[in-house]
Amino acid sequence: MQVIMRVGILWVMAVLTMPAVAAPGIDLHWLWDDRCAECHGHAGDFARKFLCVSGGRLQGRHHVEDLHGFLRNHYLAGNEVDAVYNMLLAQASNQARFKDECSSCHETAATFVRNALELRDGVLYGRNSGRSVGDFLKHHRGLTPEDAGFFTNLLTRVAREVYRP
Ligand code: HEC
Ligand code: HEC
Repeated sequence: MQVIMRVGILWVMAVLTMPAVAAPGIDLHWLWDDRCAECHGHAGDFARKFLCVSGGRLQGRHHVEDLHGFLRNHYLAGNEVDAVYNMLLAQASNQARFKDECSSCHETAATFVRNALELRDGVLYGRNSGRSVGDFLKHHRGLTPEDAGFFTNLLTRVAREVYRP
């Protein structure tokens, strides 16, 4: 009886503390590490090695025509399918430039974003420095304006994958 009451109280507390709006999406890089990495390793490495992009669509080595359909039945559910598909598409479309040029000091892009950066109205800033990443990168590591733009876009995309609305 006591146990049943406790369960009841916990249930009421859970309902009361539920957010009124939909819970934010899971951090996609965390999802990958939790659910996919044990078989496929690092997401970016996997995407670049085993997937390719043709006509704007993602293709696998085995699942060429309908990779999106395959993913619907492969460890993903609901809106995770689109989100993970888009993440892999972006990774397969780009070289591993963050890894090659930045990770010696900043680890992976996802880790760097989680530790140091935040989105404000869709624009990326240093969480503690308060600096705009777009402005900062114009004077960091001798990046050209094109490269500063490239890395700002890359980190902004990763921040959207990490901090999903
Ligand atoms: C227990 C191991 C395992 C886990 C966990 C796993 N996969 Fe897979 N995955 C496989 C195997 C094995 C294949 C190859 C199957 C095939 O080609 O029919 C595969 C194939 C794929 C492919 C297609 C590759 C190609 O070349 O066609 C993608 C994309 C993929 N997995 C993504 C994911 C994602 C995203 C997750 C996590 C949400 C995940 N996998 C979790 C084992 C796993
Ligand atoms: C040799 C080490 C090193 C490399 C390589 C490096 N950085 Fe940095 N980065 C730093 C240091 C140190 C800081 C902090 C500087 C400061 O606060 O003025 C920093 C700061 C930053 C910040 C600002 C963070 C904030 O809090 O405002 C961004 C964004 C950034 N780096 C991106 C990059 C990108 C993108 C690359 C690859 C093109 C890169 N970094 C390569 C050392 C490095």
